[in-house]
Amino acid sequence: MRHFTTVVSLWLLSTTFLFTGCGQSDSATASKTPTEKNAKSTYTIGMSQCNLGEPWRVEMNAQIKAAAEKHPNLQLVFKDAQNDTLKQRSHVEEFVSAGVDLIIISPKEAQPLTEPVARAMDAGIPVIVLDRSVLGDKYSCFIGADNKKIGHAAGEWVVKKLGGKGKLVELKGLMTSTPGQDRDGGFREALAGSGIEIVFDADMKWYEPNARQEMESALARFNKIDCVYAHNDPGAHGAYLAAKAAGREKEMLFVGIDALPHEGVAYVQQGILDATFQYPTGGAEAIDTALKLLQGQSVPKKITLGSRLFDKETIAQGGHELN
Ligand code: FRU
Repeated sequence: MRHFTTVVSLWLLSTTFLFTGCGQSDSATASKTPTEKNAKSTYTIGMSQCNLGEPWRVEMNAQIKAAAEKHPNLQLVFKDAQNDTLKQRSHVEEFVSAGVDLIIISPKEAQPLTEPVARAMDAGIPVIVLDRSVLGDKYSCFIGADNKKIGHAAGEWVVKKLGGKGKLVELKGLMTSTPGQDRDGGFREALAGSGIEIVFDADMKWYEPNARQEMESALARFNKIDCVYAHNDPGAHGAYLAAKAAGREKEMLFVGIDALPHEGVAYVQQGILDATFQYPTGGAEAIDTALKLLQGQSVPKKITLGSRLFDKETIAQGGHELN
């Protein structure tokens, strides 16, 4: 009965959501017992994305899809939670009841996604957590860049460019997500002891329109701003647009994070942003790690991805690697 339910659930998933067609769908193998798992000819991976409203996340899914397409034995089911935590929780639960072989999740928020991830692990489904983390360590592997280090490097860059003093606006990513917390923590650490004052900060929740609105308030309150540090490039771009609309964009520096070639890096090339720090999506690494887990190999608990600084001095050489 359980086998029948698994087959039906997988079939339902395939009819409801986008499948990356790598290889044959093999419903017969889907019903094998966990002990026979390693012998499967097709593995189903459920990918829970917190939203697809931002270019960086579209890129993450594209990289996962491209990497999976090289392996005919992988079949991917993507779900987009549309920035709704409850929806994302249900997506993980649906993957578990459908009996997928592995879950990749890029969670919107740490705390509320911790329990569904733990339940998937309890059900014997390996989980790879990508980019934003959950609480504790009940998952198979976490993959992401070091946000504290990136925040710190951004702080050092700002201290250097402003000659150690000035007034700064910080536009934070969602502070219930780990990158928001770490990009803030690392940055403030680097500023400590300098003469740079954070005169205004706000949580723009990763979204450009929120950043633009918050920046309008900052501009109205302060007649001199030397720098804006936003936790992502859409945020920095939103701040730039607000400053430009007020005729004040030349008064300050704009620093962001992500450095997608067609977004942040292009903004630096166009002179819109002064610096951006690369935040790799980890899509390819997630598929590599998934394959290892599915083949019963051991993987590290944490895979830390590198980052690069792109500013006027380093952009021509493809950025400068953070040590
Ligand atoms: C996309 C995004 C990126 C950011 C990442 C942090 O949702 O906001 O811009 O770097 O999430 O998790």
